[in-house]
Amino acid sequence: MIPTNNNHSVHFPRTRMRRGRRTAGIRTLLRETTLEPRHLILPVFVEETLEERTPINAMPGVFRETETSVVTRAKEAEKAGLGALMLFGVSHHKDHEGHDSMISGGLLDRMVGNVRAACPDLVIMADLCFCEYTDHGHCGPLTSEGTVDNDATLENIARQAIIAARAGADILAPSGMMDGQVAAIRNGLDKEGFEDRAILAYAAKYASHFYGPFRDAAGCSLKKGDRKTYQMDPANGDEALREVALDIQEGADMVMVKPGLPYLDILWRIKQEFAMPTFAYNVSGEYAMLRFAAQAGVLDYENVMMETLTSFRRAGADGILTYSALDAAKILQNHL
Ligand code: PBG
Repeated sequence: MIPTNNNHSVHFPRTRMRRGRRTAGIRTLLRETTLEPRHLILPVFVEETLEERTPINAMPGVFRETETSVVTRAKEAEKAGLGALMLFGVSHHKDHEGHDSMISGGLLDRMVGNVRAACPDLVIMADLCFCEYTDHGHCGPLTSEGTVDNDATLENIARQAIIAARAGADILAPSGMMDGQVAAIRNGLDKEGFEDRAILAYAAKYASHFYGPFRDAAGCSLKKGDRKTYQMDPANGDEALREVALDIQEGADMVMVKPGLPYLDILWRIKQEFAMPTFAYNVSGEYAMLRFAAQAGVLDYENVMMETLTSFRRAGADGILTYSALDAAKILQNHL
């Protein structure tokens, strides 16, 4: 609403918006949106049996970390004041159900445990999904018709959550878009005495082509089919609100919208409607767009990246999962 102040004209020439932009000091004074390192969450890929951290070609500047080098990244994240670290496993022990993520001594258990041992105070998020651990690449075991078996996945995801919690994860983040997954995880955690661990639901996760580079990075490209029977149709907005409402009823402590940039309207609606801690995932394809445009000399990476992250905050995000988290934190620290 435009404020109309008594008899004063609010029109030009009395009102000149440029007065608020005249100097850097005034612009800083009037800035509405803040971006701080604590708003940023760094996703990290951890590949087992890797000798050396390896660059991911589709994501310049991002690496697959070894089970040792992930600890170095975690310490960097802590030092930079990031809000949290999100861990993704790249398994070499894939099978039909993804057991490597459900057994003690498996990759999920080890990577969370290693980071926890090195960084007792760092907030650790564990991505809970099976696509990085199944040999077919889908987010749960398949039925005889070849679609993901929702209810069988629920039993498994509770086991996965307990493994991650026992290893020291603070926040469990289910990304598989199975119906009932938040309740299954909450029940599983509570039964094992982990009622203090939080759930960040990837509540509104779309069947997006912006995940392309991630699937290469995490080695979870599909052998067959797509994820449209469980992830959302990009054309739908109201459905996202229903997904979030259900996840909150099931016990989600925080919710997420994914991807980020093409879904800022969804982020805005969710934050306005539910007033929950709400996160946005600035996904691999969004990151790649900026990096490759910069490599081509078309955009300035640092500037467009900071502008992008600010737009998430302005649209209502409490935090942003972004591969640019360390780059952004460095820039923010230099400006202090
Ligand atoms: C796994 C998962 C995906 C991403 C995060 N968790 C891929 C997918 O659903 O296909 C994508 C993240 C990114 O693109 O950065 N369920």
